[in-house]
Amino acid sequence: MDRPLLIFSGQSNRPLAQAIAEALGLPLGKSTTLRFANDNLFVRYEESLREGDVFIVQSFTPPVQDHLMELLMMIDAAKGASAARVTAVIPYFSYARSDKKDAPRISITARLIADLLQTAGADRVLTMTLHSPQVHGFFKIPVDHLSAEPVIANYFATRVDLENAVVVAPDAGDLKRASSLARRLGLPLAFIDKERVSDTEVRVRMLVGEVEGKTALIVDDEISTAGSLVEAVEALMQAGAKEVYAAATHGVYVGPALERIAKSSVKEVAATDTCPPKEGPKLRTLTVAPLFAEAIWRIHRGESVSSLFT
Ligand code: R5P
Repeated sequence: MDRPLLIFSGQSNRPLAQAIAEALGLPLGKSTTLRFANDNLFVRYEESLREGDVFIVQSFTPPVQDHLMELLMMIDAAKGASAARVTAVIPYFSYARSDKKDAPRISITARLIADLLQTAGADRVLTMTLHSPQVHGFFKIPVDHLSAEPVIANYFATRVDLENAVVVAPDAGDLKRASSLARRLGLPLAFIDKERVSDTEVRVRMLVGEVEGKTALIVDDEISTAGSLVEAVEALMQAGAKEVYAAATHGVYVGPALERIAKSSVKEVAATDTCPPKEGPKLRTLTVAPLFAEAIWRIHRGESVSSLFT
């Protein structure tokens, strides 16, 4: 695209936006977000966006509603300031878990957010590891859906002895992702059937696959309260696993997550920087900034990004 490439950031994850801008050799664009006494937000760009190819980086991390509203306002302001094209870069799209009407009288919130982003004026969306890939279909504008699999595969390959390892899907929703990672690493696959008891509690019903004496590598889309993770870790240890490592695209780590991880038998937990990294003796951060930078560069240049999807 023969227009200036401009990268801006909301408040949710400025370090990632900064790292993406640096990888592109660009300064992060200047903008201001304020909160009025009545709790209304105010957003203003501090430089011209006229005819620019604008990318706004914002993850839906807590406080999710503020970050969503800020992104909508930044898209609206960019369109109003005559940006030629606006791409919402949403490294972590949290409401992707609300993707279906599986109970009476509920909102399919992922679709609602897709509608809001388009109404605000987004021309494209760039995101990573949606909890349900079908959320992609809620948009009428182009969505580029990146995968953290290469980053996670590289972490396991360099950190763990893969000689006697097994990849584990901690629930049915992760089976496809885990199976793909197992193929990439040339490892067998095991699977956990889990039941969600509440928002923060899960119960393991069954473990399928051979884990005894092996290093188990759990792969999940996100770690929120870490209920799913620690239950899976303990089930694997009880089934005779030698040790357990875990990796997720989104390390949200809310509520009891950090304490649960510290107390569990897991050796190490890695997550990417789609959410601001948290500190902890067993926690590691993997960066996806170069992947986002490459995708943004190719989108800007009108080149294919399909090789970045796998
Ligand atoms: C669930 O279906 C997802 O794949 C994650 O396992 C889940 O979102 C993690 O949530 P929590 O850490 O609260 O168990």
